[in-house]
Amino acid sequence: MNQVIDQLLHNLVLAQELPVEQAGELAETLEVSTSSAGANLGYLIAAVLFIMGIKGMTHPRTAVRGNMLGALGMFIAVLVTLVSRDVSWSLIIVGIAVGTAGGTWLARTVEMTQMPQLVALFNGFGGIASVLVAGAELLKETPAENVVVAGIASGLTGLIGSVTFTGSLIAAGKLHELPQFKKPWSFDSQQIVCATLLVLALLLTWAMQDGTGIEYIFVVAISLVLGVLLVTPIGGADMPVVIALLNSYSGLAAAAAGFVIDNNVLIIAGSLVGASGLILCNIMCKAMNRSLPNVLFGKMEPGGDSASADEVYEGKIKSTSADEVAMLLDGVQRVVVVPGYGLAVAQAQHVVRELADLLEAEAVSVEYAIHPVAGRMPGHMNVLLAEADVPYDQLKEMDEINPTFAQCDVAIVIGANDVVNPVANTDPTSPIAGMPILNVHEARTVIMIKRSLSPGFAGIPNPLFAADNCLMLFGDGKQALVDLVAALKENQ
Ligand code: TAP
Repeated sequence: MNQVIDQLLHNLVLAQELPVEQAGELAETLEVSTSSAGANLGYLIAAVLFIMGIKGMTHPRTAVRGNMLGALGMFIAVLVTLVSRDVSWSLIIVGIAVGTAGGTWLARTVEMTQMPQLVALFNGFGGIASVLVAGAELLKETPAENVVVAGIASGLTGLIGSVTFTGSLIAAGKLHELPQFKKPWSFDSQQIVCATLLVLALLLTWAMQDGTGIEYIFVVAISLVLGVLLVTPIGGADMPVVIALLNSYSGLAAAAAGFVIDNNVLIIAGSLVGASGLILCNIMCKAMNRSLPNVLFGKMEPGGDSASADEVYEGKIKSTSADEVAMLLDGVQRVVVVPGYGLAVAQAQHVVRELADLLEAEAVSVEYAIHPVAGRMPGHMNVLLAEADVPYDQLKEMDEINPTFAQCDVAIVIGANDVVNPVANTDPTSPIAGMPILNVHEARTVIMIKRSLSPGFAGIPNPLFAADNCLMLFGDGKQALVDLVAALKENQ
């Protein structure tokens, strides 16, 4: 393209239609605008791939392809940015080397059950990366084309990115169940302090319209503190909502950084993450009976005095064995498997599939009840079961399967606890009060597979264990299922 422009201008100069000096200036301007048009075309392709990727990820069958399309879009976006901008290649190579080494190490060492913490950290890194980008832009000597927009966008990037960074670190600590973070922590008038810090950060952001950068440091410092104060009072059981919200924040910070450096793909990708994070947040809110304003203003303190484990369980627990359960399963018509976090810990997904195959060979109908917040991240159970090639049409969402539990002969609950705890419906002071649950207690018989009577993530006893129709099969999820499969085979 540049050769064509050069030739055209050369001809105009020869025909004496254009003075030589003006031809030089024109050539430079045209070259810049064609290269930015080329970059924008590349960004457009990347954006379309992002959207197709997200669409693909809405169904397990197309999820892998969706992921690949999204990754391809990101590769194109990075490539276009690198070739269309004046970059320091040595720094880029060092960055890629460090990032690749860190990413490979994390991919190899992080357990599947630690993914939510990792996602929280990624959100945080995204937030701080945007803060650094906007900060670096402010250090540049050449002022932005639109100083007002760039100034306010920088302030917003500093605010949202910093809140995301420290908020995500605290959320990761809570999800990792670090003793320092596990319990909600707050002080009197914490919300007033948060509101004051937020107003201060917004005023400073507004003051950044003049394009100077000194306020930026204060915005970032205030927002780092704000991120900590917003997340510390929140109980662990509400963490999924917080993670989805922080994910959305990291996208919004990236979009704001896109305005700072005038990069369209950053604005598009950031907005997509921001919007999808909010949608996910809304789904999680419904699944955990939280309203979005409730989340935004940090009023998620778990409270109440739940009954003690002794009061709930004493003298009422009936334990069973794999042989007994195998006999119970003889002649049943419908079995519902309810997976939870313990299934992921035990890595029992493949043996669950083996159990289902055995039952189906005896003409038993087998379905899987999927609670939206079972496990420790959205879609956790779907991913695990997909790994074991469980047919997608056997996975039933909570709303679909709940009305049918009364027609279920045996519900086999594997490492799920909070998501089947009836206390959510009966005790308004419980930390999970109002959270929709899987109505497992309505099944004729419930087999609860777990290692002990220990509570789940919310830390409260579960009266289902003591219910008349519930039998406890104590043991590691995988081992218990291996024993059950062996017992079933023996009975055949
Ligand atoms: P939980 O209520 O956390 O219960 C998991 C149970 O698994 C525990 O009671 C534990 O009992 C058992 N377990 C652990 N390791 C096991 C093993 N190797 N074999 C068998 N059982 C094992 O799980 P859930 O019902 O899936 O509920 C999820 C909870 O996590 C909710 O409170 C939710 O709000 C929260 N949360 C969810 C997310 C998302 S997005 N899904 C994110 C963060 C938090 P034992 O120790 O007795 O075995």
